[in-house]
Formats: sequence, C-alpha cells, structure tokens
Amino acid sequence: MSENLEKPMQITFDITDRCQMECVTCSKWKTVASEVMPKELTTDEWKKVLKDLRAWLGDGFWFCFSGGEPFLRSDIFELAEYAKSLGIKVASMTNAFSIQNLYEKIVDSPIESLNISLNAITNPVIHDVSRGRTGSFEKALDSILQLKKIRDSKNGSLGINIATILFPENIEEAIPLVEFVTRNKINGIMFQLLDDKESFHGYNFQKGCKTATYEMPKELRAQYKSMAKRAIEVVDRLIEMKRAGHSIYNSYEQLEAMKIFFNNPDDILKTIICDVGSTNFAIDPYGDVRLCFNMLPVGNIKENTAEEIWNNAKSAECRQMTKTCKMYCRMLNCNFKHNFANFNKSFLTRCFNKLNKILCGTK
Ligand SMILES: C[S@@+](CC[C@H](N)C(=O)[O-])C[C@H]1O[C@@H](n2cnc3c(N)ncnc32)[C@H](O)[C@@H]1O
Ligand code: SF4
Ligand code: SF4
Repeated sequence: MSENLEKPMQITFDITDRCQMECVTCSKWKTVASEVMPKELTTDEWKKVLKDLRAWLGDGFWFCFSGGEPFLRSDIFELAEYAKSLGIKVASMTNAFSIQNLYEKIVDSPIESLNISLNAITNPVIHDVSRGRTGSFEKALDSILQLKKIRDSKNGSLGINIATILFPENIEEAIPLVEFVTRNKINGIMFQLLDDKESFHGYNFQKGCKTATYEMPKELRAQYKSMAKRAIEVVDRLIEMKRAGHSIYNSYEQLEAMKIFFNNPDDILKTIICDVGSTNFAIDPYGDVRLCFNMLPVGNIKENTAEEIWNNAKSAECRQMTKTCKMYCRMLNCNFKHNFANFNKSFLTRCFNKLNKILCGTK
C-alpha cells in the first residue's frame, strides 16, 4: 500500500494544547499549563520538523498552526519566519482573545492566512456563551476589523477568514455572518459542523477512541435533531449565496453532505469515506503524529522522520482502521475529502505543481 501512497496534503502543527477559553464544544482548555509546558516541543525542535518536512515535501506546501490557542506560544512568529525561509506557506487559527497587541506583528508576519473563530454576529451572547468567556465576541470582532484595516493600510496580503461552528443556538447567525463577511470585504467564511466535544481533547489526555464501535452521544444526537429542519434550509441558502458569489469556503460537496447529515447523521457514514489516512499529517505539541486525531499516534517526530512515520506499519494500521470507522468527524473541515479550503491551498498547490511538471516534461 505504501508504494502507491501520495504524500499528505493537510499538515497541522498543533503547537500547544493550552488555551485561555472554556468553550462548551471543546475540552482542550482543561489542559493544565504547568503539566504540559515542559513536554512541548521547543522552538528548535519545531524548526527541525519544518526542515524535515521541507526535505520530504519540497517547497510551496502549506501547513496550519492550531491547538489549543497557537498564539499562546510566543515563538509562533519565529517559526513562521523560519517556514518562510524554507519556502513553506503558513496559515493559523485563533480564538483571537489575546492577540490585541499583535495585530501589526501578525499583518507583517509571513502568516498568509488567519482563521478567526466566530460563532455569531447579531447576538454577542451566543458567541460568548459558546466560548465560555464574556468579552470574547468583542475581541474576535475587533480582531477581524482591525486586522483588515491595518492590512489594507499597508497593502498587505494577509487572508482574514472566519471559522464558525454550526450548532442549535447559532443556526440563525449563519446567513448574517456571510452578509457581514461580504459587507466588510473579509476574505471568506468556513462553516464547521458541530462534533462530539470529546473529539476536541488535549492530546496529553488522548487515549484514542474506539472508532469502530463509536456511538454518538444521545444529547448530541438530540441537538442535531432539534436543528435539522432549519439547518437544511440554512445550508440551502448558503449554497445559493455561494453560487451568487459570497465567499463561503466550504465546497458544494461538503454543503450537500451537511444536508444529508442533518437529515440523518447515520447516512453520512455510508456516503462519505474518511480519507484522513492518505491526506492528513498532524503533529501534536509533544511531537506525536496522527493521521486521524481520534486514533493513537503513529509515531513521534523526535524519533523518526515524517517520511518514515508516513510509511510505517502503524500508519498502515491506522489507514485500515479508517475503513471501519463509525465516527462523524469525517465532516469536519480538516477531514472532509472534497473540501479544498481557501486557507489551506496545499492540495491545489500540489495539483498545479504536478501539472507544471507534466507540461514541462519533467515527470
Ligand atoms: C480546536 S480550535 C483551535 C484553534 C483556536 N483555539 C480556535 O478556537 O480558533 C479549532 C476550531 O475548532 C472549532 N471547534 C471547537 N470545538 C468544536 C466542536 N465540538 N465541533 C466542531 N468544531 C469545533 C473551534 O471553534 C475552532 O474554529
Ligand atoms: S475551541 Fe479553541 S478556543 Fe475553544 S477551548 Fe478549544 S482550543 Fe480553546
Ligand atoms: S471519521 Fe475519520 S477523522 Fe474521524 S475518527 Fe474516523 S477516521 Fe478518524
């Protein structure tokens, strides 16, 4: 199998599990900073990872800083500079709670694309409750508008995007959020289906899920049911808006899959194959590598090269396990097969590189 294996195209650096929020959808914030900080990869160790990936994947590939809250690591800018010096492109996600002093620095940095999480626009309380911190809406909104203002005044190129989870309390916010994006000339918005909060765990707690026998928690199933009818109407409207030119990054395939999901979540298990085994390569704060974030690590980047890990027996075993997986996180943006998000152009870059090589007769 490994002989025909393509290289991964969705590279994630989860540089820390630490987080200052208390989101109701996520449990990463339960990570105890003093326990994990000594175990996190150092700046030099992350640089070594970048050098290793550059040697294996060539230049021009993308990766995304995520976490936890990636901006809690002050070396994020140094790592982004180093990536740039190697010809690697960088995106990042953020909750935007502690970046107010960093706006200029972010715009001037090599980070090409920043995804700011925002779950509401007309009703700040919905966002604040989802994030477990009062004032988080105000900070996220300020970040989006100020970063755009600074970027435009400097003629900068930073892509500023919104990332929104869809859940029962905010389903009416989806369309106003798209209108906000268009009105304010924000680069785009990406919707994310609500997933089991246990999937969003600190990696230090991760024991791996029983993916073949997973059953969706009753409360989560009830949440989906309560929003299903309206959610399908909203997603239909999002499809129309995307056709009309609004900058919604989800592919049409993913939006259609969301409708199938809301109609009956179980249908998605038959309809969508999870392809993370041949696309994803996620490195956690401690150097452990996962192809699927709900399965056990397939190696550690301090012990082996990325290429060795990608081709090892544990990775092969993980790819086998994806075939019998009964989890729904295949719908998430980082996992969805047809989802060529604008903020991570690695797949497109590779396609163009391949096409170029063919046209130039080098391959
Ligand atoms: C885990 S966070 C890491 C980056 C950063 N801390 C943030 O919140 O933007 C990445 C994304 O996952 C989303 N997320 C959190 N819990 C989720 C859940 N249960 N289902 C789907 N997406 C979720 C967040 O809103 C965020 O956009
Ligand atoms: S979703 Fe992001 S901001 Fe919220 S607790 Fe998880 S890591 Fe922190
Ligand atoms: S659906 Fe995909 S990402 Fe989610 S647990 Fe299964 S194999 Fe992993």
